[in-house]
Amino acid sequence: MKRAMIAAAVGVTSAFLQTVAHADVDAQWAQTKLKENACLTCHYIKGKKFGPSFEAVSKKYKGKTPDDIYASWQTFRVHTGVRTQISEQDLKSVFEWVLTLRTGAAAGDRK
Ligand code: HEC
Repeated sequence: MKRAMIAAAVGVTSAFLQTVAHADVDAQWAQTKLKENACLTCHYIKGKKFGPSFEAVSKKYKGKTPDDIYASWQTFRVHTGVRTQISEQDLKSVFEWVLTLRTGAAAGDRK
């Protein structure tokens, strides 16, 4: 019991640190999240796969916020299976990075 509480406390602390560390969303981190959460099985960053590319999402949401993308993301039934695997916070951070794709401001694999 005590061990479980310590583990929970450690979990909360590292989740907090992670959030702070990624206040400025870094492309590498965002793409790791996409991979870890199977988003890339249905989406490419560039080019349509089963779902729209993240570049297309970025264009569609021009002038919008990560919260707007998140609200829409939740409404797609196709995402039900992945919903439990990624936190709301992480998703919003990923969407913050997605929004930078349109401007080419994102570092990483952009040419
Ligand atoms: C099983 C396949 C599948 C997986 C896994 C998946 N998606 Fe999707 N996603 C889709 C499809 C299909 C659509 C388009 C649905 C439509 O337009 O009706 C979509 C749409 C979207 C959109 C566009 C929303 C909009 O308003 O246009 C975003 C953003 C998105 N997905 C992000 C993600 C992220 C992030 C993950 C991983 C956490 C993910 N998806 C995992 C299939 C998937």
